[in-house]
Amino acid sequence: MSDVPPTADRISAYLRRLLPRRRADGHEAPSLITLRRFAGPAAYVERIAPVRVAHLTDLHVGRITPMQVQRAAVALTNAEKPDLVVITGDFVCHSQLYLDQLEEVIRGFDAPVIGVLGNHDHWSGAAEVKRALERAGALVLSNQNTTIHLGHERLQVVGLDDAYTGHADRVKALKGLRADLPAIGLSHIAEEADGLWLSQIPLVLSGHTHAGQVTLARMHEIAFGRITGHRYVHGLYGSRSGEAPGGAVYVGAGIGAAVMPLRLGERAKREVAIFELGAEPGAFDEHHSEQAPLKGRKPSAKTAAKRAAAVVKKRERRERKAGRGGPG
Ligand SMILES: [Fe+2]
Repeated sequence: MSDVPPTADRISAYLRRLLPRRRADGHEAPSLITLRRFAGPAAYVERIAPVRVAHLTDLHVGRITPMQVQRAAVALTNAEKPDLVVITGDFVCHSQLYLDQLEEVIRGFDAPVIGVLGNHDHWSGAAEVKRALERAGALVLSNQNTTIHLGHERLQVVGLDDAYTGHADRVKALKGLRADLPAIGLSHIAEEADGLWLSQIPLVLSGHTHAGQVTLARMHEIAFGRITGHRYVHGLYGSRSGEAPGGAVYVGAGIGAAVMPLRLGERAKREVAIFELGAEPGAFDEHHSEQAPLKGRKPSAKTAAKRAAAVVKKRERRERKAGRGGPG
């Protein structure tokens, strides 16, 4: 059962009718998903031979996002022949009803997949989502790091658990990280990047904001910057110059949606981002250059406690529904 209120259902159904029609073969036009390409920070040059990382986020596999969109995202990613696919959370949308479809999507990637969880995964059942991802062959990093071999290259991947619901533990995630090997960071919430930069992780990939979904007249920066307090709303922020203690963070626009599928504005388009690690910034044309962070605002202790409590409440509700003896 979903936690989406009926009003949101009705709005979603209405907005879906406004979306472009699917083609006769049943596949949504690939142009609905934008491919954006960036060079990795200068810190990787001479430390790693060119490695192509595809970044997707916020798949939100479920009833709001058609499977045709998910399959188009997988096809677009595979066509780029990445060495690694990273996905930064919100694999599901309010429920565990679509875990089989999630497995199908993840199995579709040709390259190895590494992911971290987001708030929707915790709201829906982190253990169950993680198990589905693992069944599909993905590696899920929950405040952990790993070293992967990509041809002759070795790359460390540091994965933070979801900061929105209070599950991120940077100290734990960095344990055993080697200074002599390059590393990238994954975090659903982009604001965690600042802390990872201090530990010589020059690039962090993130999600959560869906680029605001409506980016006309910079509405996304107003909604997610001023109102929800995000410093990083969409795209590339920070510095790729390689000068410590700075770093770069990329906030992907995401593939799916949690409530409304509407996306308006060029920046808001569903997105796969390709990072060419080992390439010098400026080596090729990019969609945009590094942006200055917004002012942002840290969530208050009360807000953080409320967000953490929501995970517990939702779990208790699931347990009640399943008749497994949760509190009544
Ligand atoms: Fe999301």
